[in-house]
Amino acid sequence: MAHVTLITKDQIAKRVAEMGRQISADYAAGANPIALCVLKGAMFFCADLMRNITIDMALDFIQISSYGNEKYSSGVVTVLKEPQLDMHGRAVLIVEDIIDSGLSMREVFRYIESRGASMLRTATFLDKPAARKVEFRADYVGFSIDPKFVIGYGLDYAERYRNIPEIQVLNE
Ligand code: IMP
Ligand code: MG
Repeated sequence: MAHVTLITKDQIAKRVAEMGRQISADYAAGANPIALCVLKGAMFFCADLMRNITIDMALDFIQISSYGNEKYSSGVVTVLKEPQLDMHGRAVLIVEDIIDSGLSMREVFRYIESRGASMLRTATFLDKPAARKVEFRADYVGFSIDPKFVIGYGLDYAERYRNIPEIQVLNE
C-alpha cells in the first residue's frame, strides 16, 4: 500500500528557508559556527538548511549507530564516524533529522560538549515530542509531528525510502 504524504516538498522548502533565516539572524556575524550533520538521515535537511544560511559556516559530520531494531532506538549510541574539525571554543549547531525518544540526541550532545564546543545548539527537521523517554529540547524545530513512523527526505526504514523528496507516513 502507498505511504501517505505528511509534509510536501513545498512545505519543506518554505519551512527550511524560514529556519535558515532564523539561524542566520541568531548567530553573531563572526561566530563562524560548525554545522554538524548527523549522518545519514540529516544530510538532505542539512544541505538545504545550509543553503539558506547567510552567515559564514563550517560543515562537519558525525555518524552514530543506535543498536535496537529499525524503529526504536535502544539509547546505546556508538560513534561510527567522528567529526574531523577541532571544536574547542567553537559554536556548534548539531543538525539532526528527527528526535524521537531523545536518547540519540542526548548522547550526541554530551559527546560534542566533551569536545569543548563553546556554544552548542541543535536543529532538528522533525520532532516527536510525545515519544520522549528523556527530556530533550531542540533549539530549532522544523515540524512537530505525531509519534508515527515517517520516511523520506533522508529518513529511512531499514535503509529504504531516503530518496523520497517529501515526508510520508510509513505504511507497512
Ligand atoms: P531517538 O534516539 O529515539 O530520538 O531516535 C532518533 C533516531 O531514530 C533518528 O535520528 C532516526 O535515525 C531514527 N528515527 C526515529 N523516528 C524515526 C522515524 O519516524 N523515521 C525514521 N527514522 C526515525
Ligand atoms: Mg538519525
